[in-house]
Amino acid sequence: MERTLVIVKPDGFARGLTGEVLRRIEAKGYGLSALRIDTPDRERLARHYAEHEGKPFYGPLVDFMSSGPATFVIVAGDRCIEGFRSLAGATDPTTAAPGSIRGDLGRDWGLPVQQNIVHGSDSPESAEREIGIWFPELAAD
Ligand code: RTP
Ligand code: MG
Repeated sequence: MERTLVIVKPDGFARGLTGEVLRRIEAKGYGLSALRIDTPDRERLARHYAEHEGKPFYGPLVDFMSSGPATFVIVAGDRCIEGFRSLAGATDPTTAAPGSIRGDLGRDWGLPVQQNIVHGSDSPESAEREIGIWFPELAAD
């Protein structure tokens, strides 16, 4: 069964949107296989966001993501990686389609990094790599 790592980011957590995000995942028909609330630490964020190191939003991104509690979720289901990216919508919440999490619930706050409520893995390799960072006890062999 395919797995993906979803994070309700600190903005979504602080706004009380964890339940709404989980509701949409469950309503779509995917399963929840692990869930933890934690403030992301900078060391694991650096590993998680290694592909973005050097970009102008990298520093603000790590600051934002370590600013408070987030909800980490392993979601399971056939094609759930692609399916959750579709539920999440485009990275920029201003132009994300209505009906998507970011399109319905997100907006631009004029900050140096987009606060867009959720993260979802973008490929099977990313999903297993990210699950290994945040849920090492549940990593694939
Ligand atoms: P994610 O990894 O969080 O699921 O989001 P994504 O694939 O849609 O976006 P990605 O390109 O991987 O960027 C990671 C996160 O960095 C922030 N970002 N801000 N220009 C900006 O202000 C900007 N670009 C990226 C967003 O929080 C994005 O989700
Ligand atoms: Mg990404």
